[in-house]
Amino acid sequence: MTGAAGPPTLRALPPPFRLVALDCIDSTNDEARRAVGRGDGHGTVIWAAEQSAGRGRRGRTWVSPRGNLHCSLLLDAGPDLALAPQLVFVAAVAVRDALAELAPAAAFQLKWPNDLLCGGRKIAGMLLEMAAPLVILGIGVDVALAPEPALYPATCLARAGSSAEPFDVLAGICRQVDCWYDRWRNEGFDMVRQAWLAHAAGLGQPLKVALPDDSVHQGRFIGLDAAGALVLEEGDGRQTRILAGDVLAL
Ligand code: BTN
Repeated sequence: MTGAAGPPTLRALPPPFRLVALDCIDSTNDEARRAVGRGDGHGTVIWAAEQSAGRGRRGRTWVSPRGNLHCSLLLDAGPDLALAPQLVFVAAVAVRDALAELAPAAAFQLKWPNDLLCGGRKIAGMLLEMAAPLVILGIGVDVALAPEPALYPATCLARAGSSAEPFDVLAGICRQVDCWYDRWRNEGFDMVRQAWLAHAAGLGQPLKVALPDDSVHQGRFIGLDAAGALVLEEGDGRQTRILAGDVLAL
């Protein structure tokens, strides 16, 4: 099922990252969990050219063709495991910065909780899973192809004017994750929260959010709280914090 994707010597990542390059795997998140079981730690990066069972949030399928980027990073969750979910926002700002470097003319925006949009269409998604004391940070970027997901229209980096290859995207993401992860460990979440809000799609605008029980909340998107919850101001001025759900098309 697995095989090397290119000579490892030509495919190195800067410390603290250590690349495991595979040709095809079920899901890089699943392989990352197996790597934890083998004793791998912070900085391990599982990269697969193709996934046969790529997963998105809430058990959705993540279509994972060759030409796009599918990777999972193992990161130390830090001393307080309750704060580990903040890492999905660390990842989101890091992926945004990396793609903005590769396609400087494109307009990238972050969609709560863990999507990256380009010109209003989804270009990347993140899936954070716990493997205490590590987190598995799964990142999928549509590089060459834009498979249409069920919930949102999609685009890809090639359409945004970049000729970057998946490995270039991976290397850029690792550089940015290293930088934002260190800032999160040293300075805390608020600076990440501010950076996320600076690029948030729909801030100050009316928004509809579908909750896991399929009920829909409607209100004005006024912020992100310290727990990473979306803050909505509803019609009567009441503020509602939403910890899990899907923002419907903006
Ligand atoms: C989402 O938007 O719902 C999250 C998508 C996350 C996809 C990535 S691709 C690499 C890693 N392996 C998986 O199976 N999923 C994540």
